[in-house]
Amino acid sequence: MSPVEVLIPEDQLRSRVNEIGHQIEGDYEGKDLILVGILKGAAMFMMDLIRVVQLPLAIDFMAVSSYGAATESSGVVRILKDLETAITGRHVLLVEDIVDSGLTIAYVLDMLRRRGPASLKVAALLVKERAADAGLRMDYVGFTIGDEFVVGYGLDLDERYRNLPYVGLVKS
Ligand code: IMP
Ligand code: MG
Repeated sequence: MSPVEVLIPEDQLRSRVNEIGHQIEGDYEGKDLILVGILKGAAMFMMDLIRVVQLPLAIDFMAVSSYGAATESSGVVRILKDLETAITGRHVLLVEDIVDSGLTIAYVLDMLRRRGPASLKVAALLVKERAADAGLRMDYVGFTIGDEFVVGYGLDLDERYRNLPYVGLVKS
């Protein structure tokens, strides 16, 4: 594998995930909370996050895939694995690894909203500047990064690098 330059080291990820987790814990106390992770990229973030949130929450996962080119989102999303749980009337927190164009998250949010959750919010570990510029409202954001391709901590390049404990840039 090509070498990776560290962008966000492990200790920074850990402390930011802890902060977000405690924020979520305060915001959802006494509520029927279900965290919905988008496979596979959000899996590592999700698992670290739920260890911090000391609430009687539930978790579930969805797998989605963008149609078309692999590197650019088309905005049309195919559901590869749907939720096993009904979310109607429940407080749903969608957990995503990274928001780039925002098309994937917009599609999934729209689909989940039609199922009538009590509330629907987003926790994204990473948000690229262009998504932030596009005025997409994320409820919990780990880090805002530049418009560069990153790997690690769940994120892949052709299914590689997901297991890196940090977020980095692939050097060619
Ligand atoms: P969007 O629809 O353009 O927001 O793309 C979001 C999806 O593309 C994410 O869920 C990732 O799977 C993937 N993606 C976008 N940027 C990156 C990146 O820098 N590294 C790895 N995957 C990325
Ligand atoms: Mg993804």
